[in-house]
Amino acid sequence: MSNSSSSPKNIPRDPSQEADDQVLDLALRPSKFEEYIGQENAKKNLSILVGAAKKRGEALDHILIHGPAGLGKTTLAYIIAKEFGTGIRITSGAALEKAGDIGSILTGLTDGDFLFIDEVHRLNKAVEETLYPAMENCSLDIIIGKGNSAKTLQIKLPRFTLIAATTRISLLSNPFRSRFGASYKLDFYDQPEMEKIVARSAKLLNIPIVPDAISAVAKASRFTPRIANRLLKRARDYAQFKNTEQVTDKIAVEALELLGIDEIGLENTDRKIMEVIAKNFNGGPAGLKSIAAAVAEEEDTIEDVYEPYLMRLGLLIRTSRGRIITESAYKHLGMEKPDNQQASLL
Ligand code: ADE
Repeated sequence: MSNSSSSPKNIPRDPSQEADDQVLDLALRPSKFEEYIGQENAKKNLSILVGAAKKRGEALDHILIHGPAGLGKTTLAYIIAKEFGTGIRITSGAALEKAGDIGSILTGLTDGDFLFIDEVHRLNKAVEETLYPAMENCSLDIIIGKGNSAKTLQIKLPRFTLIAATTRISLLSNPFRSRFGASYKLDFYDQPEMEKIVARSAKLLNIPIVPDAISAVAKASRFTPRIANRLLKRARDYAQFKNTEQVTDKIAVEALELLGIDEIGLENTDRKIMEVIAKNFNGGPAGLKSIAAAVAEEEDTIEDVYEPYLMRLGLLIRTSRGRIITESAYKHLGMEKPDNQQASLL
């Protein structure tokens, strides 16, 4: 077993997350399938996969986990390794620049270990191709020299399991995707699951909170546990600032307002995206590039972070001709829907 306590040092830190939040996030992370709320299909399949491999005394098939950010892909990887009883090494697609970077990680593993690669869609071709023989035959193929005199040196690797996570499955090549024996999609949580997650986190962090405040925090959390935990901590800070012993409904609502988050979890950028489509494009269709320029955000961030939630709420639709906003979006913005919006696209 190696690196069972390895820190996620290869993962670039989210600058918006403070250090104390990271420590608290570790405390909140469920460590068993039983403690993990929701994602029933992935959880059930993964526990069967782990249980069966354990009985056979073999390493697991390689696993691909995809779905929007913050839903618990890394948490699941830790749980899998813990339940299987071996070590896990954590890295991310962007941190692996050269074939040698992945080579040194692979040679440091021991039999049965897990390698977790987050944001695997950001792997470059050289690293991806180094992974192919490693995933198939536990072989690290190193090419020495160039042209006609090039030779391949093969190093036998321990039998390891790759767990890869991505928010952008469509960016993975077919040869790479086909090398995973199991693939699971995580979906946004529903409101009752979010409430259970907020209540569990409040208990673990000793935060007194009333049921209505749990609902309010859950509702503003974009169906995403990572956001729920962050908002819960900000509501606790606000309660302390106001010298209130518990997080009441009023405290939670005020804390969310101060953060610029409305009751359904929309931030300024979400509203700006909808407003731009309403005002500049008569409700759409609007191209991603134009929206990104108008709201001063990266296209990737709009696609990965903002749009999935707006779509889940039924406020925005992606069509082949661009993005359009729905009647509910106009209602939420307090605007009148124009009669001449391209009805055929809705
Ligand atoms: N914290 C983050 N994700 C969670 C989940 N799915 N269940 C419980 N706690 C969580």
